[in-house]
Amino acid sequence: VDTVVGIDRINFTVPNHYLDLTDLAESRGVDPNKYLIGIGQSKMAVPALDQDIVAMAANAAEPMLSDDDKERIGLLVVATESGVDQSKAASLFVGDLLGLPGHHRSIEIKEACYGATAGLQLACDYVARHPQRTALVIASDIARYGLSTPGEVTQGAGAVAMLVTRDPAILAIEPESVYESRSTGDFWRPNYSAQAFARGKYSEEVYVGMFQELWAGAQELGMARPDELQALLFHIPFSKMGRKGLRTLGDGVIGETDYARLTDRFESSIIYGRQVGNVYTGSVYLALLSLLDNDEGLTEGDRIGLFSYGSGSVAELYFGILQPGYRGRLDAAAHRTMLQARERLSVPEYEAMFSAQLPTDGSELVLDRSDQSDSAPHYLAGIKGHERQYR
Ligand code: CAA
Repeated sequence: VDTVVGIDRINFTVPNHYLDLTDLAESRGVDPNKYLIGIGQSKMAVPALDQDIVAMAANAAEPMLSDDDKERIGLLVVATESGVDQSKAASLFVGDLLGLPGHHRSIEIKEACYGATAGLQLACDYVARHPQRTALVIASDIARYGLSTPGEVTQGAGAVAMLVTRDPAILAIEPESVYESRSTGDFWRPNYSAQAFARGKYSEEVYVGMFQELWAGAQELGMARPDELQALLFHIPFSKMGRKGLRTLGDGVIGETDYARLTDRFESSIIYGRQVGNVYTGSVYLALLSLLDNDEGLTEGDRIGLFSYGSGSVAELYFGILQPGYRGRLDAAAHRTMLQARERLSVPEYEAMFSAQLPTDGSELVLDRSDQSDSAPHYLAGIKGHERQYR
């Protein structure tokens, strides 16, 4: 009998500042409905300098781990597009901040927004071979395109942490999936640039095209019978993108009842993402958390499909089964409170925070926390001798 492995715990964190996209639209001279409906986003998380991807990753994982949990972790993966070092894995800083004892493998994975799915699949394989150990996978990213660019409205920041175990309490992940890799120039970020470059419309085409191919492949293999799927989650760089993917199943491609059910569930899956923005590699997992926290109709045993897409491009469609008692393992109230407690920035305040950058010439820096950040336990305290200093 195969070992059942999957997500035992899941949590997310988001910076405590946001920009209301109606304010952004007004400032950019754009009809707000373009952002609210056309792009399908309402708010965008804005990180302060001391909330980099390492700090956010540690803050996402910390509340869900006891000392015993930390002892059992045998693999730590941090997936990110916004890495802080060309050599040292972000996971080493994160393991240190979390106080992990050290007897674990520690790596950073990069493939744009697909990295966390690569990490999750690796974690499932690891736990299947080492059933007494667990794996911690954290997706942490800051999406930056630049002020007044077409991509500006699709920025965001946040981290999602998942503990992968044998006999998981939330979502058992099926071993069979469909995936595809193909080199494309739809989105990239050269080493010298703090901002991503994107061929926006082309990136949407590649995303939709790869979803259609994987969906067809899963049909051929008998993996994705629409009537067996209670929900289908998408990588959500902005909610309209996922909607475009889902719409390819409309117009009779799948039965009307199934399409209506999947559309209904899709609405629950974008509640958090609409208020946070693109968190790159964590986006599909933020959609999962949004669905689980907000959809009252789901029950244990329900089967969910997850479409993960990373520009460049790698895509995967895989499936999971909700486990008995999964609801009791979630803290929906804490997630909602975190989103509601955020501070709204004016556009000039957002622009100032966006433009503030860490020095790139090695000069030392001490970050004054009282100035810019929140009460999250872990943060970047400064830079000394070319090394980031965390607390
Ligand atoms: N009311 C309602 N809708 C309106 C509107 C109004 N007043 N005005 C415009 N719209 C609609 C448009 O009709 C359009 O809808 P459709 O896409 O359904 O046609 C939508 O708003 C967007 O408007 P534009 O077509 O004018 O697009 P844009 O030039 O503003 O660019 C974008 C949009 C391409 C998504 C851009 O924001 C971008 O480049 N983003 C970054 C790249 C990206 O996120 N790509 C996604 C796929 S790649 C990926 O997923 C990986 C990743 O995370 C990056």
